[in-house]
Amino acid sequence: MKRSVAILNQKGGVGKTTVVLGLASAALHAGVRTLVVDLDAQANATWSLGVEPSRENLGTGDAMKATKAGSAADMIVPSGWGDDVWLLPGGPDLTERENDRQGQVTPQRLRRALDGVADDFELVLIDCAPSLGLNTSCGLTAADGALIIVEPTVFGLRGINPVLDLVDSIWEEQNSKLDIAGVVLNRVPPTSKDANSRIDELYSMVGRRAVWSPAIPNRVLINEAHNARAPIHTYRSRAGGLPEIFDELLLRLRRWSAS
Ligand SMILES: Nc1ncnc2c1ncn2[C@@H]1O[C@H](COP(=O)(O)OP(=O)(O)O)[C@@H](O)[C@H]1O
Ligand SMILES: [Mg+2]
Repeated sequence: MKRSVAILNQKGGVGKTTVVLGLASAALHAGVRTLVVDLDAQANATWSLGVEPSRENLGTGDAMKATKAGSAADMIVPSGWGDDVWLLPGGPDLTERENDRQGQVTPQRLRRALDGVADDFELVLIDCAPSLGLNTSCGLTAADGALIIVEPTVFGLRGINPVLDLVDSIWEEQNSKLDIAGVVLNRVPPTSKDANSRIDELYSMVGRRAVWSPAIPNRVLINEAHNARAPIHTYRSRAGGLPEIFDELLLRLRRWSAS
């Protein structure tokens, strides 16, 4: 069974962390035991899950530095959200990893750190940094699939090919299990001719079936939930369908993992 998915795009601000948190909220609601691995030095997922990113707390960077297989086991902490969501925290030290030119970190490091550990979870969500550097290579090497987050804009689409190229090269060189789980559209405006033609263009680039539905609309509540460090499902009565959107995306992810 596939369980780990790397959520990625080289661009910042496209909604990688938003999708990770929305899926974690849906998983919490559905009772799916989930591990969030934060691979971003900015550690926004860590913070929003109620854990303070710091140099003192151990996390993803330390797990990758350790040479022991399964080293992440001692560094995983409960999230502040509830029993089913666990966290391997991100922190500023991940920048050092990213710039490691001594070859201390190889793309296999995260995979090794999670060896035997990921099996304790039904789902592992790897929140990648906005780059196609070494940390993202580690994320893809540790994952069964890549989930690409895209905004329906010209710049959004221009960023996809380098992401697909990296997935290809990791598949060839590091992880022959890796596949493209799908593409999630984020920040889709309610009506926009331009966005619609960008979506058509995306279909022709990756194939219509690769693009997951539903798309995520542009909604201020998403930002509000992040600031409150709260799962989107706690806003049920005024969330205007957002929890249900993430429930459906989680179902899609579960179908992919059973495939
Ligand atoms: N669909 C959306 N509607 C409104 N705001 C969004 C949406 N998706 C993301 N945001 C906001 O955009 C910012 C960047 O999103 P984030 O998920 O952190 O991107 P990334 O992880 O790709 O850098 C955050 O402030 C987030 O709250
Ligand atoms: Mg992020």
